[in-house]
Amino acid sequence: MSHTGFPASAVTLETPITKRITLKTPFISSPMDTVTEHSMAIHMALLGGLGVIHHNCSVEEQSEMVRKVKRFENGFILDPIVISPNTTVGEVRALKEKWGFGGFPVTEDGKLRSKVIGIVTNRDIQFHSALSDQVTEVMSTDLITAKTGITLQDANSILRKSKKGKLPIVDENGNLISLLSRSDLMKNLSYPLASKLPSSKQLIAAAAIGTRPEDKTRLQKLVEAGLDIVILDSSQGNSMYQIDMIKYTKETYPNLDVIGGNVVTKEQAASLIAAGVDGLRIGMGSGSACITQEVMAVGRPQAASVFGVSQFAARFGVPCIADGGIQNVGHIVKGLALGASTVMMGGLLAGTSESPGESYVSREGQLVKAYRGMGSIDAMEDKKAGAGSKDSKASNAGTARYFSEGDRLLVAQGVSGSVLDRGSVTKFVPYLMAGLQHSLQDIGVQSVSELREKVIQGDVRFELRTVSAQAEGNVHGLHSFDKKLYS
Ligand code: IMP
Repeated sequence: MSHTGFPASAVTLETPITKRITLKTPFISSPMDTVTEHSMAIHMALLGGLGVIHHNCSVEEQSEMVRKVKRFENGFILDPIVISPNTTVGEVRALKEKWGFGGFPVTEDGKLRSKVIGIVTNRDIQFHSALSDQVTEVMSTDLITAKTGITLQDANSILRKSKKGKLPIVDENGNLISLLSRSDLMKNLSYPLASKLPSSKQLIAAAAIGTRPEDKTRLQKLVEAGLDIVILDSSQGNSMYQIDMIKYTKETYPNLDVIGGNVVTKEQAASLIAAGVDGLRIGMGSGSACITQEVMAVGRPQAASVFGVSQFAARFGVPCIADGGIQNVGHIVKGLALGASTVMMGGLLAGTSESPGESYVSREGQLVKAYRGMGSIDAMEDKKAGAGSKDSKASNAGTARYFSEGDRLLVAQGVSGSVLDRGSVTKFVPYLMAGLQHSLQDIGVQSVSELREKVIQGDVRFELRTVSAQAEGNVHGLHSFDKKLYS
């Protein structure tokens, strides 16, 4: 620890995820089907990190999620419920019951990107007893709209002045593009750290794919949807399949960044760097739902992997992600100090509201959410059966992360379970961020890059902790205590 002469808020957490792209915070969510779909990807990007969309689903579903991230504009509803002129008053009442809100735009063909002809609100249908009447009888047609491209601030001020509940955003031909809602006015927070490319207003989108030939078609669809970063998702990245995929991707899509992995040794990293990766993902067997080391006897302790690989990759300017085993802020600090540029979290984020699925009450009475390894029997069976996929099983066959999914007998490398509910990432990630800033302040460094440099120079040092030192470093000697981490 060196001298500290600055506040924690002065610590910058800017860090590269690939050779080309820098994020404002070093937090990445795992491409797992209980962790990252579009909601997590959008919120992680808003908070300055990144969510990597999983591929245990059909090509169409995954590309639609990428599209949702790219189209997301904070505050604007990009997929509003739209109705057609033939909808009846009774049907609108049923929609209100189902969604819990009234106020539906009516367009010529009942879809988004069609001409807006009115809006039907609660007030219009509340006392209208002829339920079979069409909405055109009751909807208001004196619309105030705004043109697409308007800033959230300007749109909010039009909405405020208009005294209406909803502001349709339309293109030059009057087609509905999105909607702004009065009830959301107060919720439209600003996200100054949001992850965007310098030339773009859109959030950065990242997604994972496998390394089978079919994944090339998947990749094409994802790129068409606006993908910025692809992660080649394999538990053992140094394979001929991955090397072929890296070369193919760099040749076919020069503007797309490729992160390879997973790797845990310099030799593995060297192959992928030579093939042209823009970033590496480090970790094998250290994930919280992982049994790879136990069952296969392969893998490597995470600290040794992160230190060895990232010091080597730094010589080629290739940033590394420390993936797996992150349980708290301390682990994040250690990952970054050992040379990683970012950390990837699965279990730690699976309990948040933005992960897929709903929380439920466990047998012990605690609020929990499902979390499973992608190499668990459950996840691999879903993949084999095409679960979550609306189309053929073949489209899923290409997504294999473990070389086992195509086999007759599945060999598990992960478990299926649950984690405690954690509330929203909009609270949890800022806690991780503040915790990390405080840690770097205590260490006496003002940025993630300074932390890494000082470790190499020997100014920030690791010391072996004996078992008794570890016991002394934890809470001890108390009769009982509550471990509330933030408020
Ligand atoms: P966690 O943050 O400790 O929960 O680890 C998440 C990481 O575990 C993921 O990003 C993957 O690299 C890895 N992982 C996911 N599923 C499995 C599995 O079934 N077996 C082994 N590792 C897994």
